[in-house]
Amino acid sequence: MTRVAVVYDAAAPYTPDIVVEQVVAALRTGGHDAHPVGLPLELRDVIATLSEFRPEMVFNLTESLCGRYECDFHFAALLDLLGWPFTGNDMVGLMLAQDKVLTKKLLAFDHLPFPRFAAFYDEALEFVGDLRFPLFVKPIRLDASIGIDASSVVRKSLDLLEKVRQVRMEYGGAALVEEFIEGREISVAVVGNESPLALPPIEVDFTGFPKRRPRIMDQRAKFDETSAEYRGTKAVVAKLEDPLRDELQRMATTAYRCLRMRDYGRIDFRLDKQGKPFILEANPNPYLAKDAELSLAANAAGIPFAELVERILRCALDRERRRPAVRKSETPLLPFGDEPKPAL
Ligand SMILES: Nc1ncnc2c1ncn2[C@@H]1O[C@H](COP(=O)(O)OP(=O)(O)O)[C@@H](O)[C@H]1O
Ligand SMILES: [Mg+2]
Repeated sequence: MTRVAVVYDAAAPYTPDIVVEQVVAALRTGGHDAHPVGLPLELRDVIATLSEFRPEMVFNLTESLCGRYECDFHFAALLDLLGWPFTGNDMVGLMLAQDKVLTKKLLAFDHLPFPRFAAFYDEALEFVGDLRFPLFVKPIRLDASIGIDASSVVRKSLDLLEKVRQVRMEYGGAALVEEFIEGREISVAVVGNESPLALPPIEVDFTGFPKRRPRIMDQRAKFDETSAEYRGTKAVVAKLEDPLRDELQRMATTAYRCLRMRDYGRIDFRLDKQGKPFILEANPNPYLAKDAELSLAANAAGIPFAELVERILRCALDRERRRPAVRKSETPLLPFGDEPKPAL
């Protein structure tokens, strides 16, 4: 039995997502002493909240820190600094995947395919080959389809320039322009460390999607339960020929390693009209709810939800057991339970 804090960002607007209660219940089913722990808005209170609870393991369900989505990797870094073991990806895995341009540059080293792209920074423009319309414009560093809607698909230069300007104004920093891959959308989840297991591919079924709109998973399709986009899409186990399924799983495992992911992750693909796969992005610590892609994929592989959660916990416990003794004895930068000493 392990004392587990199932940690989420209580400062984020979705407090607390259904996934928190589902993971707590699964861990309890497995005989663990699991409790939900919401992180507060103030950073200094974050440390106090965790030290009060004194878990043996942090089950990290945060997607943001103190309400800031770009700071997901800062929380992993904080746990490492404090010497507390946690499930899922560390700072490096979270950070590499957050930057969609850096991700592509790393994928290139392993000859993994991605859409041709250009990145518009304040001081520079980076691009790979000539781009062909239609194009897709999105923020480089955000997640959860923030900044993505039907107008992200652009078909002529004027719209492209306007969209790049708007994305940069509204979300700050750089805009990413990619060739729009008009075809099936498929994700492959990967679980484990020494020999990561690629689960059966899951596809977004767009059958009920509004006819005139581009088939993309924008914010409405992902979150607005009242929208036609949400009601018109569902995640299903993908029907694929064996060689294509094998190829997607091989690519997903290669990307998982190349992007330094650990415990669990999900690689998202699109297939073009000829069925050629392109990696859109990588998701370390993907959404773990029972009806989300990862759990569906695990189910399709005969791994029920409670077992999936237990596997992720085991990955982190094994890592902690193997942590060199010398690292374990290091004094955490801020010892838990001790108030910082007042300056003399
Ligand atoms: N190059 C592209 N071609 C086609 N669709 C895309 C492309 N890039 C993004 N999309 C669509 O937008 C959705 C969100 O994009 P993604 O890069 O995954 O951002 P996020 O990190 O916010 O999930 C994808 O699931 C897909 O439907
Ligand atoms: Mg995505």
